[in-house]
Amino acid sequence: MTTRIEVVNDFLAANVKPGETLQDIMEKMGSGLPFGCRDGECGTCIVEVMNGMEYLTPKTEKEVKVLAAFPDVGENARLVCQMKVQKHDGLVRLKY
Ligand code: FES
Repeated sequence: MTTRIEVVNDFLAANVKPGETLQDIMEKMGSGLPFGCRDGECGTCIVEVMNGMEYLTPKTEKEVKVLAAFPDVGENARLVCQMKVQKHDGLVRLKY
């Protein structure tokens, strides 16, 4: 009952349970993604979700507001510090 998280530019992957935060997952993996505020306010932890958005919790209000300040990012941009895995048996691919 896990979902696989792959961070393509780090060549890292892990199988995780729903409810885990992406911030914890990526730090445990040893990802090189930098974090700043860790509270959805600075935009340092932006990633592109290449696959599997439906396995992640929806964008928070803070996230929508911060992402709007980055006009170059697309609809699949997310803030890692604001996301959790919400379903099992999925595959989520991220890059930053
Ligand atoms: S670390 Fe600041 S928005 Fe995620």
